Amino acid sequence: MRAVDIIQKKRDNIVLPDDEIKFLLDSYLQGKVPDYQISAFCMAVYFNGMTAGELKTFTEVMMNSGDLIEFPGIKKFLIDKHSTGGVGDKTTISLAPVFASFNIGTAKLSGRGLGHTGGTIDKFESIPGFTFPETKDALISLVNKTGIGIMGYSDKIVPLDKKLYSLRDVTATVPSIPLIASSIMSKKLAVHADGIILDVKVGSGAFMKDIETAGKLAEAMLEIGTGFGRKVVIVLSDMDQPLGNAVGNSNEVLEAVETLSGKGPSDFTELVETLAAIGLMLKGDVPDIDGGKELVWRNLKAGKAHEHLKNFVEACGGDSSFVDDLSLKIAPDVVDVVSDNDGFVNSIETESIGKAAMILGAGRAAKDDVIDHSVGVVLMKKKGSTVKKGDVIAKVYHNNKSKLESVNMIKSAYKISGNKTEPGKIILDIIRNF
Ligand code: URA
Repeated sequence: MRAVDIIQKKRDNIVLPDDEIKFLLDSYLQGKVPDYQISAFCMAVYFNGMTAGELKTFTEVMMNSGDLIEFPGIKKFLIDKHSTGGVGDKTTISLAPVFASFNIGTAKLSGRGLGHTGGTIDKFESIPGFTFPETKDALISLVNKTGIGIMGYSDKIVPLDKKLYSLRDVTATVPSIPLIASSIMSKKLAVHADGIILDVKVGSGAFMKDIETAGKLAEAMLEIGTGFGRKVVIVLSDMDQPLGNAVGNSNEVLEAVETLSGKGPSDFTELVETLAAIGLMLKGDVPDIDGGKELVWRNLKAGKAHEHLKNFVEACGGDSSFVDDLSLKIAPDVVDVVSDNDGFVNSIETESIGKAAMILGAGRAAKDDVIDHSVGVVLMKKKGSTVKKGDVIAKVYHNNKSKLESVNMIKSAYKISGNKTEPGKIILDIIRNF
């Protein structure tokens, strides 16, 4: 078998047999096929796509390229909730303890932020003393102890994705539905949770800018999950404005804690309630999402998830006192971003808000940048809000790095006019395979 013949077939839209896909990917992982041939292959996939059969095999080879994580002996129903990434997305920090309070375990790998999007790993690391488990055994033990198992991606799990993703990043082949679907699903399938919930973000702060493309990605991932006999629910959710109000690290953790008491922003609360209700439905505790949401809301009002968040933080070596007194460090210097005119907030260019937080130091432009957990942005006005000239639309918490640039970016991200605008829905669609 020769890589060039396989590339040629993909170029000419000829369906690839399983053994050729396996040969190409395995040889690439072993360093026997060079980057330039895989780049050409990815570009051919970008233009010609993959059949459902090709995609299943491609995902399977990716998944099996490293360790698989199973949870033998854990009696809990385990869920892996994954988001495709956005701005202000602190969902896991609230959702995992809510799941735990319903006796649902969390088993997942999370990422760090890169570019304009934040990452769950960075957000938890705002907590003094907190460190994530680094091995599969430590993850399993954390699930056993606290019901919440989260760790960062490691080189040992789906190493092929890491190699392929870096290559796609520099060859303009990231935005390909089969390549994104296989990249995400191979990492989900490598961790053996009982149910997978995928939160596909749609809008100006997301990978998928429009609902049609997001729907196609969702269908492709659902089909892969079905092919592997896994229960999958996909939520398409709005990322046409930041999720909640806080964008940063420490400030997002605090907003997630407030949400556990039912005092969080309405869009974020609605997302957490919906995802938690889906978890209850996956587990078989409720017949539908509406029934589940009612239970979750009562749980939040009663503050039942706090203890579970504290247990998890303590098991990871962190100081959990912030859960009671919201004492995480926030940068003391604040600049108000004010509106220049009267009107309604028509839209918020979300990627710019993410970038504004990043240049303050809340995110990384390059992989090895060190982040400042205390800085960030808090939105005071969201889509549909009425604004008067001089009103504060956002607050910038800074340590004097790029504060003016950040303020200007936020100001230009807000489109304010006399046209009345609805706030918009957070949940855009839900599809599932069971
Ligand atoms: N997230 C992933 O994990 N992979 C992609 O290809 C795109 C987003």
